[in-house]
Amino acid sequence: MAKVKTVYVCTECGGQSPKWQGQCPHCNSWNTLVESIPVTDPSSGAGNRYAGLTAARGVMRLDRVDPVDAGRIPSGLPEFDRVLGGGFVPGAVVLLGGDPGIGKSTLLLQALQKVGDQHSVLYVTGEESPEQVSARARRLKVDGSKIALLAEIQLEKILASLRDEKPLVAVIDSIQTLWSEALNSAPGSVAQVRECAAQLTRLAKAGGPAIVLVGHVTKEGAIAGPRVLEHIVDTVLYFEGDSGSSFRLIRAIKNRFGAVNELGVFAMTEMGLREVSNPSALFLSHSGDPVPGSCVTVTQEGTRPLCVEIQALLDEAHAPNPKRLTVGLETNRLAMLLAVLHRHAGIACFDQDVFVNAVAGVKISEPAADLAVLLAMVSSLRGKPLPAGLVVFGEVGLAGEVRPVQRGQERLKEAAKLGFTKALVPRANMTRQGVEGIQAIPVDRIDKAVDWLREHAL
Ligand code: TYD
Ligand code: MG
Repeated sequence: MAKVKTVYVCTECGGQSPKWQGQCPHCNSWNTLVESIPVTDPSSGAGNRYAGLTAARGVMRLDRVDPVDAGRIPSGLPEFDRVLGGGFVPGAVVLLGGDPGIGKSTLLLQALQKVGDQHSVLYVTGEESPEQVSARARRLKVDGSKIALLAEIQLEKILASLRDEKPLVAVIDSIQTLWSEALNSAPGSVAQVRECAAQLTRLAKAGGPAIVLVGHVTKEGAIAGPRVLEHIVDTVLYFEGDSGSSFRLIRAIKNRFGAVNELGVFAMTEMGLREVSNPSALFLSHSGDPVPGSCVTVTQEGTRPLCVEIQALLDEAHAPNPKRLTVGLETNRLAMLLAVLHRHAGIACFDQDVFVNAVAGVKISEPAADLAVLLAMVSSLRGKPLPAGLVVFGEVGLAGEVRPVQRGQERLKEAAKLGFTKALVPRANMTRQGVEGIQAIPVDRIDKAVDWLREHAL
């Protein structure tokens, strides 16, 4: 392949420069120049990355285009399929990000074995030797006879193998190890990661395989990591998990072929990843009797309602600036809730350190947990447990109102399924028929919720 002349593009202003410099000559930002292949010249194959996709067919009328209802290829692991939106889509590119050691290679090997039963699959390993992959396969009791393996980090060779082998699903483990001869930058640099992913995407879109790119996220997050790829790929999945626990969550951050914020739950065992069929039970701590400061909420993760226990601890502060700490929830949201609690329910926490935790390392990003956080804090402050069998959900507004949340009925059904008998819910979420087995109690303001608590707390 002829070497393409590269340029250096500023990630801040987009300005180009023929040589690398510490400072961008256009906008004066420091350390923002990244090696790239110029995209202005349409005759250059590498530059015109999406030529095969779009330009070739010219302008057409949308209604004349057949929607391909891409046949899904199930991964054989229903929890993984859930986050993928039903399985792999031929020609689609999935980025699977996560901390090193979280279980990305394990998951993909398990999935490839199942897909491999019916379709051709290729596992490209750039990080581990074939022997290491084989050792893992043996440990997982994965039958390797259906999995084609390629140990290679050179992009052009990988592309050639993909064209020859024509797998239906291919895994690249990991994108950070690849390098393209078109660029001078080192493997793992932003330029290489971006260019390799773009080339692989181009192959996938031109009738190629479903490709899974593995990407390591460093603790600092961004550096040459998968984040630079998020806009190139179709689906972005992040593998999360508490280092202290064996549970692993896969979350869909972006999905052109399914719902976002979808959650898949696994447990890492001696025999690899095992699916957790009833994840709600996982996010509830298992203390028998109700304790102060604990309140169960029902969050909606993607299409799945999930019961999660919120724990709060309020303790007399001994420093001028009391602490406000959260695990799995937003700290700014906590500050807002404390202000609402003071202004609209007359409960002040200026002299208290406040700690709030969502059990088992789950991250809650939706405001539906607000009311539960508030009640857990009140319960801790008063040292009184909430009634047994109670779940609480509702968004809290700055005026002290309790606002409705999406899919109230499904949340109630999930809670009822797990044996909860009472639910404090936003009035606007009440329906006439209700949900069997659980009594919904409407609240519209937080002072009313606190009053209810005063009457019913143990
Ligand atoms: P791995 O899939 O190699 O992680 P990644 O590809 O994300 O870097 O998983 C590594 C960890 O998983 C390692 O610490 C060992 C553990 N593990 C098990 O607990 N059980 C198993 O069956 C396997 C294969 C790995
Ligand atoms: Mg790995």
